[in-house]
Amino acid sequence: MTIRGNVALVTGASRGIGAAIARSLAAQGASVAVNYHASEAAAQGVVADIRQAGGRALAVKGDARDRGQIEAMAATVKAELGPIGLLVLNASIGFPMKGFLEYPWEAFEAKLMGEMSAAFHGCRAVVPQMLERKGGSIVAITSGLARNPGWGFCAHSAAKGALEGFVRALAFELGPMGIRVNAVAPGLTLTDATVHLPEKHKQAAAEHTPLRRNGQAEDVAEAVTGLLQTGFVTGATLPVNGGGYIF
Ligand SMILES: NC(=O)c1ccc[n+]([C@@H]2O[C@H](COP(=O)([O-])OP(=O)(O)OC[C@H]3O[C@@H](n4cnc5c(N)ncnc54)[C@H](OP(=O)(O)O)[C@@H]3O)[C@@H](O)[C@H]2O)c1
Repeated sequence: MTIRGNVALVTGASRGIGAAIARSLAAQGASVAVNYHASEAAAQGVVADIRQAGGRALAVKGDARDRGQIEAMAATVKAELGPIGLLVLNASIGFPMKGFLEYPWEAFEAKLMGEMSAAFHGCRAVVPQMLERKGGSIVAITSGLARNPGWGFCAHSAAKGALEGFVRALAFELGPMGIRVNAVAPGLTLTDATVHLPEKHKQAAAEHTPLRRNGQAEDVAEAVTGLLQTGFVTGATLPVNGGGYIF
């Protein structure tokens, strides 16, 4: 599975980790569909940067949790760029940070359903295009919190844990069809999603990390682009956390 000449769809690529992945894939020669939900100007900015650097990219609007919108997006990408061979399930599904005893079931359910519907419908819409190409590679962005919990994150840990189970199940089923499926589990990464965290908290995280810093979106992008093009790795979860936890 090569990146050059391939077609990639990155969900939630208008900002943060998804934008870094889109830029990195384009720099390595893929045509990239930059999915966004609300941030059209940011997504168009990512596309403009890629085109200016000589790459090929397209912004595609759609709620990654919505089956109809995902199917429409996949069809647009196929028509404009060609069949998708690389899929990155990255869209960030929001959740409130609360202790378990205060956690509203509705918010817990929305996080689980959002994360899983984005993965399920994303793969169902794109895998047929991968079969047309006689192969494909999928990476889901999970989280270190799937295995290494923190206060306030029960919904996020449960949803990302479910996503890792789904990745292993798909790796098993789709492997014989030439499609690899893996997960990348970032630790604390400096994006809009973590900008609200107190500086003290970020410094403490860096001090307790063997590589002594917080993650950057580009660190995750480098791991994703590497994993997308390995030949014999499937069903794996790759932590990208500077050694913040090791398993
Ligand atoms: N940052 C961290 O410390 C960290 C750690 C572990 C795992 N992760 C995971 O990494 C992924 C990216 O997170 P991030 O930190 O880069 O977040 P971010 O900077 O907040 O960016 C979120 C991205 O997701 C998009 N998005 C949100 N809801 C969407 C939806 N329903 N449909 C399509 N796109 C949607 C946003 O697009 P619009 O603005 O256009 O809506 C935006 O591009 C997430 O899966 C997150 O759980 C992050």
